[in-house]
Amino acid sequence: MSDDPRERIIICRCNDVTQKEIEDLIDQGITDIEMIKRITRIGMGPCQGRTCIPLVAGIIARKTGKKVEEINIPATRIPVRPVPMGVLVGDDDEE
Ligand code: FES
Repeated sequence: MSDDPRERIIICRCNDVTQKEIEDLIDQGITDIEMIKRITRIGMGPCQGRTCIPLVAGIIARKTGKKVEEINIPATRIPVRPVPMGVLVGDDDEE
């Protein structure tokens, strides 16, 4: 691990993604949250991005000079078909 303190700042706790990983992608020109999400899996953890997506939007805004309101937030995707509640809470008795 380097001495870069951004490697110790976790932006997505569900998937262990650091501030440095996010900022490196933005520095490479990737400023679309949907693309950052596909590369790093931010927003795909149990919290579905409640914590990390707003943080990443803030980082993108800061690094690109945009307002946070100008950053496109990925749409929430609901399940295509009904899911038994037991599956969502990890009950093994459900199909
Ligand atoms: S903190 Fe990123 S998906 Fe939960």
